[in-house]
Amino acid sequence: MSDTDNANPLDRRKFLKAAGLAGAGVAAGALPAHAAEPEKVIVEKQEWNQALGAGVQNAPYGKPSPFEKHVVRRDVEWLTASRESSVNFTPLHELDGIITPNGLCFERHHGGAPVIDPAKHRLMIHGLVDKPLVFTMNDLKRFPGRINRAYFLECAANSGMEWRGAQLNGCQYTHGMVHNVWYTGIPLKALLEQAGVKTNGKWLLAEGADASGMTRSIPIEKVLDDCMIAWGMNGEALRTEQGYPLRLVVPGWEGNMWVKWLRRLEIGDQAWEQREETSKYTDLLANGKARRYTWVMDAKSIVTNPSPQAPLKQKGPNVLTGMAWTGRGSIKRVDVTIDGGKNWHAARIDGPVMPLSLVRFYVDIDWNGEEMLIQSRAMDSTGYVQPTKDELRKIRGVNSIYHNNGIQTWLVKKNGVTENVEIS
Ligand code: MTE
Ligand code: CO
Repeated sequence: MSDTDNANPLDRRKFLKAAGLAGAGVAAGALPAHAAEPEKVIVEKQEWNQALGAGVQNAPYGKPSPFEKHVVRRDVEWLTASRESSVNFTPLHELDGIITPNGLCFERHHGGAPVIDPAKHRLMIHGLVDKPLVFTMNDLKRFPGRINRAYFLECAANSGMEWRGAQLNGCQYTHGMVHNVWYTGIPLKALLEQAGVKTNGKWLLAEGADASGMTRSIPIEKVLDDCMIAWGMNGEALRTEQGYPLRLVVPGWEGNMWVKWLRRLEIGDQAWEQREETSKYTDLLANGKARRYTWVMDAKSIVTNPSPQAPLKQKGPNVLTGMAWTGRGSIKRVDVTIDGGKNWHAARIDGPVMPLSLVRFYVDIDWNGEEMLIQSRAMDSTGYVQPTKDELRKIRGVNSIYHNNGIQTWLVKKNGVTENVEIS
């Protein structure tokens, strides 16, 4: 599915900081109330209580209500060169809490999503090890020390189109290359201990079983620290698109390293300098030099509601919400402004705050119908504060599409319509 709203990507203008924006207060005033008169819909008979509903086993695998059919991953036509080497985006503005439902996790693959028979899938560990090993899926599921962890995965190219100015009109498109999932699997350290990494084993190469045969090198310190191999997501098997039957989990580091359809792990004494870590996932600076090995995803946040795909419908009480994440430690606080940065308010973080996992934040606002310029700013446990886009551009230039964690601005107009803008 493509989205015609984004047909004119360069249409979005820079928004000059307007004086005297006073769109709302952040403390809630009157709570939403209903008319004293009973509404027709509550006193009338409805078709759904006049006949029996669907019986059990009508849907052996449950699906969302038909009224939710707009809640889907979407792609952008001008970003889709071919279906097999492409990306679609998580509908962040339709989600809440911290867990991304399996069917809505964005997909990024370089050679299509293969359907792999788990009975024929193998994981090989070899290279600088005492004992090369091959595991079946059954072997892995019998392996002691199984763990469950929630981690965000963000593609390094998330928000990549925004380096050159506000372009895509919706957080699904500007920030939707992120998901947060409970993984079930085994620490990679446990498997490597069985194989016995030789003392000169300093790097790990991970390879996928898909047609792209995607490979990445990962330093052994990270591998032994918190990497895991996972066959489960959110309590069930991985989805085909997410790497069924096995994927690598590299917490806090760029999504490209999380090799899907994982088939081979090789230990070596240096990085392999594969395509995905040289010509790709290397950030060309303005002076012609490039930053490489930019693995960690810096702290970032986004207001998901209101946003261009989720405009405000009514004055008065409204719930502003969004999410924040960091590749270093955990999120400490999120500040929100509704007047383009003149005043900042600490948002309320609700739900578990786990390292390298998304957090959910809320600000209850009372909107008086005037324009608002909304931003959120995350701070993590290292003290790092999410920068503005202009601060990033000053250091990094605009050559690269990777690692844009700059602060996002939404302009809420008087009629509630919300647009992607930048403040300068
Ligand atoms: N692994 C394999 N084998 N093939 C791929 O094309 N794409 C990578 C990574 N792992 C890829 C892969 C990229 S660029 C990203 S951002 C993540 O997978 C996306 O994970 P997801 O599709 O589960 O969202
Ligand atoms: Co990616």
